[in-house]
Amino acid sequence: MSINVKLIGIGSYVPSKVVTNKMLEGILDTTDEWITKRTGIKERRVVTDETTRSMAISASKDAINHAKVDAKDIDLIVGCTVTGDMATPSVASYVQRGLGCENVAAMDVGAGCTGFVYALTTAIAMLDTLNKDTALVVASENLSTRADWSDRGTCILFGDGAGAVVIKRSDENCISNPVLHAIPDTDDVLYIPNARLNHPWSDNLAEDDCAIRMEGKKVFAFAVDVVEKTLNELSELSKDKPITKIIPHQANSRIIRFVAQSSSYDKDQFFVNVDKFANTSSASIPLAMHQAYRENWLKKGDVVALIGFGAGLSYGGITVEWSI
Ligand code: ACO
Repeated sequence: MSINVKLIGIGSYVPSKVVTNKMLEGILDTTDEWITKRTGIKERRVVTDETTRSMAISASKDAINHAKVDAKDIDLIVGCTVTGDMATPSVASYVQRGLGCENVAAMDVGAGCTGFVYALTTAIAMLDTLNKDTALVVASENLSTRADWSDRGTCILFGDGAGAVVIKRSDENCISNPVLHAIPDTDDVLYIPNARLNHPWSDNLAEDDCAIRMEGKKVFAFAVDVVEKTLNELSELSKDKPITKIIPHQANSRIIRFVAQSSSYDKDQFFVNVDKFANTSSASIPLAMHQAYRENWLKKGDVVALIGFGAGLSYGGITVEWSI
């Protein structure tokens, strides 16, 4: 990395509405036992009156309060989401408005569930390029409104929430070794279509099916493979500061277990909170980081590997030396 940065604040937001597996038994041909065994998920949060942008703003306020910085000290906002309320403006622009930041660069990064790792990497590069000091990186997802609640193979997996971090230039380099990858999803195993309208010259462009579509088994195989590869890559790059904790994208506890078993790390070094929040796509890593920090699972000096994977098919990781 070209400049030294450290993390100075973290925040999150989850809706108060809890939907348990038991509640899903009432609307789907499924059971708590099936969902728990195949995914590790017990419950998820779903929006009632929240939106992707409102959750992003709440998580961002939490993060800047924690960082003890003023909104006017933020130079750059990088957002990420796969479930934006609007095609434009960006979530970052709404966060700017919500926080009252006057003079910032604001934009979103799209990289599926790997979004947060891509956004953090982008924010560091932009601080360098723009010669700025402080950035807010925020991920927010509203997957419950994009799930097909008649498809038991997908809807049980997802939840809503947001997470944000504040990073700042520093003497020490605490965020290192970004590795970003993507392989073509030639079989379309994971996507969310956008709505389309007809124009006066079109016969039928309209797209009314905007729900998440996924081939679970293929995504599972991809996920296990790339989380393992990324962890190996980060371990090699971080030899001088060995990784002590791992926070992977929270999609399925079986994926995390598989990787833990075949790695040289102990299973207790992997953080898991998919049981409580299900898969919140790009928000899952900052949400997990915040919970891990609040529960004192992440301690100052820990070197944590963040590893994401998702649609694209994108994947990647980065190491964060915990500095708060
Ligand atoms: N309840 C009960 N039965 C179910 C359910 C359910 N919720 N869902 C599927 N089944 C049934 C299927 O219909 C099938 O029945 P059949 O044998 O009679 O045809 C049977 O269970 C097995 O179905 P599979 O789809 O083969 O089940 P699998 O073991 O692959 O588990 C799952 C499905 C949990 C989705 C798994 O494939 C998985 O976790 N994949 C990875 C998903 C993932 O990680 N996505 C993350 C990327 S997406 C993102 O992050 C935004």
